[in-house]
Amino acid sequence: MQINENFPLKPYNTFGIDAKARFFNTFSTSDELEEYLMFYAEYPIFILGGGSNILFTEDFDGTILKNDIRGIELQHEDSDYVYVKAGAGENWHQFVLHCINHNWAGVENLSLIPGNVGAAPIQNIGAYGVELVDIFWSLEALHISERRIHTFTTVDCEFGYRDSIFKNRYKNDFAILSVTFQLKKRPVFHTSYGTVTEELEKMGVKELSIKAISHAVINIRSSKLPDPKTIPNAGSFFKNPEVPTEKYNALKLKFPDVVAYPLAKGTVKLAAAWMIEQCGWKGYRKGDAGCHEKQALVLVNYGNAKGSEIYDLSEEILQSVNEKFGVMLEREVNIL
Ligand code: FAD
Ligand code: EPU
Repeated sequence: MQINENFPLKPYNTFGIDAKARFFNTFSTSDELEEYLMFYAEYPIFILGGGSNILFTEDFDGTILKNDIRGIELQHEDSDYVYVKAGAGENWHQFVLHCINHNWAGVENLSLIPGNVGAAPIQNIGAYGVELVDIFWSLEALHISERRIHTFTTVDCEFGYRDSIFKNRYKNDFAILSVTFQLKKRPVFHTSYGTVTEELEKMGVKELSIKAISHAVINIRSSKLPDPKTIPNAGSFFKNPEVPTEKYNALKLKFPDVVAYPLAKGTVKLAAAWMIEQCGWKGYRKGDAGCHEKQALVLVNYGNAKGSEIYDLSEEILQSVNEKFGVMLEREVNIL
């Protein structure tokens, strides 16, 4: 077994933070993972996917195990659905393209989200009106200290907005090995969110298809979000906060332009990007840590920012939004 000690993590996180792990290994089967877990039993363990939703604020004094379990398999089908199992180490967008090529519908709105399949349930990834929960069927995960494989169904995962049981009660307890999706044979199109319809019109699409929606989403995302390869980042740094209607009404009186979306459950979701922009942070840069000039919700590393500098900037933003709007933002990115 190769032991990688004092391992540089810069290529393994899309924020491009130059941190180190005490130990680092990659596994491609659950048996291999179990071997590493036994070997490194006395150290803290962190399971890594594509590194697109983490911020290293210091070196990791433990073992990072990168999940590289591959394979996409049609498990079974019925008259309406196909059930597709994907290894946790599969790249998410490649998985989406695989489904689109097979005419399996449901994932198209989630095109171009960075990262791997195994991380998708962790924060119940979402974009353009669809969340992972809408297509999720089950997952298999190895309990890191008990070393037993468990199956989780939708209810077990306690999915919420950018949330699941794996960010709460079971934080860092499980390594997800595979995820099974329930995908539709006959597509139901979701085009009402944001500028999807507008983009489809711009593209001259006459007949709607999952491929066309995927292209529209790719176009929108590419125009707004910085590509981590050019400007390292981890997507939205904060969640969009949900507030009671009364709080929203009070804000609306004081800030008539507030950007918000009423939710079915009677609360209102506020656009965090708008509040951050109103506080003057959009395009701000301090050293190499910055707030993106096109999307205020995205914090960026212009080159050699330390994780702690990005974190400190996030803290300043959080405090100023709270002072101006009385709303405490919550970080979406996992801080290490
Ligand atoms: P990592 O960053 O490697 O890990 C994230 C967390 O998941 C960590 O806590 C890690 O321990 C855990 N984890 C990862 N794999 C496993 C596993 N197999 N078992 C157990 N735990 C695991 N997210 C959205 O929801 N919607 C978006 O639209 C979106 N857009 C983005 C755009 C950009 C440009 C970027 C950089 C990020 C964006 N994200 C978005 C965030 C990110 O892509 C997702 O959170 C993604 O699911 C993270 O996957 P990952 O494999 O990179 O996870
Ligand atoms: N806005 C501003 N200033 C900005 C950017 C946006 O005022 O700099 C306002 C605009 O009015 C815009 C609104 O905020 O209409 C919402 O912006 P956008 O559509 O870009 O979406 P978002 O709320 O910033 C969320 C997700 C994204 C996801 C998109 C599309 C969260 C935390 N973020 O962003 O997810 O891709 O919607 O569904 O929910 C991620 O989680 O990493 C992520 C990128």
